[in-house]
Amino acid sequence: MPSDTVISTQGLTKRFTVKKSEVEAVTDLTVDVQRGALVAFLGPNGAGKSTSLRMLTTLIPPTAGSATVAGYDIQKEPAGVRSRIGYVGQGSSGSFAQRVRDELLSQGAFYGMGRRERTERADELIASLELDAFATRTVQQLSGGQKRRLDIALGLIHAPEVLFLDEPSTGLDPQSRANLWEHIIALRARYGTTVFLTTHYLEEADRYAERVMVMDSGRVIADDTAAALKADLAGDALTLTLEEGGDLARASSAVGRLAGATAEHRGDRTLAFTAPSGSALLPRLLRELDHEGIGVATATAVPPTLDDVFLALTGRTLRDADQPEGDDAPATTDTESHTLEGSTR
Ligand SMILES: Nc1ncnc2c1ncn2[C@@H]1O[C@H](COP(=O)(O)OP(=O)(O)O)[C@@H](O)[C@H]1O
Ligand SMILES: [Mg+2]
Repeated sequence: MPSDTVISTQGLTKRFTVKKSEVEAVTDLTVDVQRGALVAFLGPNGAGKSTSLRMLTTLIPPTAGSATVAGYDIQKEPAGVRSRIGYVGQGSSGSFAQRVRDELLSQGAFYGMGRRERTERADELIASLELDAFATRTVQQLSGGQKRRLDIALGLIHAPEVLFLDEPSTGLDPQSRANLWEHIIALRARYGTTVFLTTHYLEEADRYAERVMVMDSGRVIADDTAAALKADLAGDALTLTLEEGGDLARASSAVGRLAGATAEHRGDRTLAFTAPSGSALLPRLLRELDHEGIGVATATAVPPTLDDVFLALTGRTLRDADQPEGDDAPATTDTESHTLEGSTR
C-alpha cells in the first residue's frame, strides 16, 4: 500500500440475514483513497453507502474482505482505526440539553484529550465552523444546518486523519446545504483531513467531490471525477430545429455521418440526439448542413448531468431509483449489528 493511500479495501462484502433470507448490502468493495482526498459515494437509498461506511469505521464487521484505514486493519486493529477517524452518522447526534461548547468539550474528554488541548480545539472548531454565536446555546436550540455543523465539529475534535460523513446534508434546505459544503471544503483545506462522505444528491457530488464513486445495489459501478464520468458515459444532448421546409431526412443522415448518432425526429422540423463532446461537434455539423443547403433555425447542446451517467450505467435515473424515505437501516438487524450499534457515538 503506497504511503499516500489512507484507505484501502479489498473485496469488502457485507451480508445481512433478515428473517432467514440474506441481503447482500455491499459486494466486493475494492478501492484506494489518497490522503487528503474528498471522495463521495453517490447512490440511491439502499445502495449500500452507509453499510460501507459502517464497515470502514469498525461499527460492523465485514462478512468477507479486508480494509485498512489510516494504516490500521479494520478487523484486527479497530481501536487504532477509531483513534484516527471521525465519524458522523446519518441523522443528528448530540445531547439536546447540553450547550454546544460543552458538548465539544465532553467529546474531547471522551477521546482522552487533556483539558487545555480540548478547550483549544473546541474553540478553534467553533470559530472554523462559525458556531461562535451559538456556543453557549443548547443543542436543541440550533437549526438543522447549525446542528450538522456541530456534528462535524464533534467528528473533528480529536484531529482525525479521515472524516467519514454519512449524508451530511440530507434534510437541509439548499442554502444550508451549500453553506455546509463551504465549511467541509474549508476544513479539508485547513486541516488536510481526508473526507469520505455519502450523498444521494447528484448536484452535490458533481459540484464538490473530487472523486465520485457511483454505487448501486451494493456495488461501485463507476469511479472517477464527475467530469470524466460525464464525458465518458453520457454525451451532450443536442437538438436541432430546421427552418421551414428543411429536409429532415437529409439532416438526419448528416447527423449519422458526423456524430455517429441516430437522431430521433420530434415533429417534422426537430432532431434530437446525444453525442460525446456534442458541443464541440455542433459547429462542424452546422457548417455541413449549411453546405447541403439545409437551414437550421435553432441549435442547443445540453451537457450531461450525473443523472445521465447513472441512467447510462443502470437504465434508471437516480431520482427514480431513490425512494423518498427509509434512509436508515431497517429495524430488523442481524445480531452483530445489534451488539455493535451501542458503540456508535
Ligand atoms: N442492519 C441491517 N440489517 C439488515 N439489512 C440491512 C441492515 N443495514 C442495511 N441493510 C440493507 O442493506 C442494504 C444497503 O443499505 P444501506 O447501506 O443503509 O444503504 P444506503 O446507505 O446506500 O441507503 C439495504 O437493502 C438495507 O435494507
Ligand atoms: Mg445510508
